[in-house]
Amino acid sequence: MPSQPCTLIIFGATGDLTHRKLIPALYNLWIDGNLSSALTILGFARREKTNEQFRSELKETAEEFSRQKIDGTRWEHFASSIYYCRGAFGATEQYTSLAKTLDALDTQRGTCGNRLFYLAAAPEQFETILENLRQSELSTTRANSWTRIVIEKPFGTDLLSAQRLNSLVEGVCPEHSTYRIDHYLGKETAQNIMVLRFANALFEAVWNARYIHHVQITASETIGVEGRAGYYEQAGALRDIVQNHLLQLLCLIAMEPPIDLGADSIRDEKVKVLRSLRPIVGNEVPLYVVRAQYMAGTINGREVLAYREERGVHPQSFTETFVALHVNIDNWRWAGVPFFIRVGKRLPKRRTEIAVHFKSVPHILFKKAIQEVEENVLAICIQPDEGVFLQVSAKLPGSTVRIQPVKMNFHYGTSFGRATPEAYERLLLDAINGDASLFARRDEVEEAWRFVDGIRSHWNTSSTKDVAFYPAGSWGSSEADRLTEVCGAKWRRL
Ligand code: BG6
Repeated sequence: MPSQPCTLIIFGATGDLTHRKLIPALYNLWIDGNLSSALTILGFARREKTNEQFRSELKETAEEFSRQKIDGTRWEHFASSIYYCRGAFGATEQYTSLAKTLDALDTQRGTCGNRLFYLAAAPEQFETILENLRQSELSTTRANSWTRIVIEKPFGTDLLSAQRLNSLVEGVCPEHSTYRIDHYLGKETAQNIMVLRFANALFEAVWNARYIHHVQITASETIGVEGRAGYYEQAGALRDIVQNHLLQLLCLIAMEPPIDLGADSIRDEKVKVLRSLRPIVGNEVPLYVVRAQYMAGTINGREVLAYREERGVHPQSFTETFVALHVNIDNWRWAGVPFFIRVGKRLPKRRTEIAVHFKSVPHILFKKAIQEVEENVLAICIQPDEGVFLQVSAKLPGSTVRIQPVKMNFHYGTSFGRATPEAYERLLLDAINGDASLFARRDEVEEAWRFVDGIRSHWNTSSTKDVAFYPAGSWGSSEADRLTEVCGAKWRRL
């Protein structure tokens, strides 16, 4: 069914996110018949350009980044819904002319006055944009139509700044109309976690401390900072990926079943998990957290620079590009089950995976079966080979009892025979249709910061001696091994 009609106003329309993610996602939604024919896109940015220029620049990048190939005629049709409005984010009077343009588009294109403001600009511009939306009354919902605001990450840099931004947003737009993006929640496999857990009696029955030994969540990337050193130097891996994407995945794995699929029911359960995270503070930080930075090395046969040699990085920088954590969830279901998280840039492979390691059976029966019986592992691969893989023990054919681990595999690609949509496709469509279940709520973001801030405040006051270094192309700091060793486990080889 096509989406609700609306105008999507993009602040930061000439930036990378618009070019690489938003427009390709909208094009794919459009050719798949998911968008209303009245859907209108209005780019708002500083540079002077015509609608035609804007459209042709977008086409060039869409050709590179779109999931489905760009078809000339269909693009022309799609692009006729794209407009450009020049304006400086801080110039209050330009919001008055933006309002006029929007009124005209409402009439011309039949958007029913519905507006989705998308903040794809740099975070330091958020406050100015929000304040101007409020002053110009563009954020005020009019009769018989809706107004929503989508905010990109990073949502603050710590708890205080997130709270401040949240209060600002609240003064402009009610919580139920605020959509904080975490693109990991839009990934098909992340959405499948709830289905896997709550639609399969097989898993839910054993999803607790009685049967689960530990959980590993890994996000490994081969890329480095990709020209984003200015941002990354301040952020580091803990704030860049753990605070948002990985804690969200952890919530989906650990949460209790929600009472229904309503956005708040799901988010209530996720917040409970975040509130149950055992704080890691003070001298415990080095025991539970390992941080490291990549040196020069080789990835897929290609030599790459050290982080400190990347353009825009301070030559003595101690920013972590790898972090591993041992996290505990202090609640009934997870008492005593360690959750290990590991993320890093310039690792040998791109893979995001959640591996649930079950406890071993008592080995009495197969004592003589030569090999140790390996435990069951349920691996949920978020990317790139999206799927679910279950490791079970099986008897090797033959006259003696020999046991070997085998895999029962489910790959999205082969099981459903069609490509999975990009995360931004799903998230944009949900925001247009008013479904906030895949977006972070205020308290989720703040609780995640509270946890991360505990670790960072120790780092801020302690020496940087604990920052380890790893060659690019390796699996990060070997220091991380001691985290899993506490429960006799090893990091999975991916
Ligand atoms: C972003 C981070 O949020 O997520 C990047 O800022 C990271 O540093 C990216 O590379 C990873 O996203 P994906 O979808 O490629 O796994």
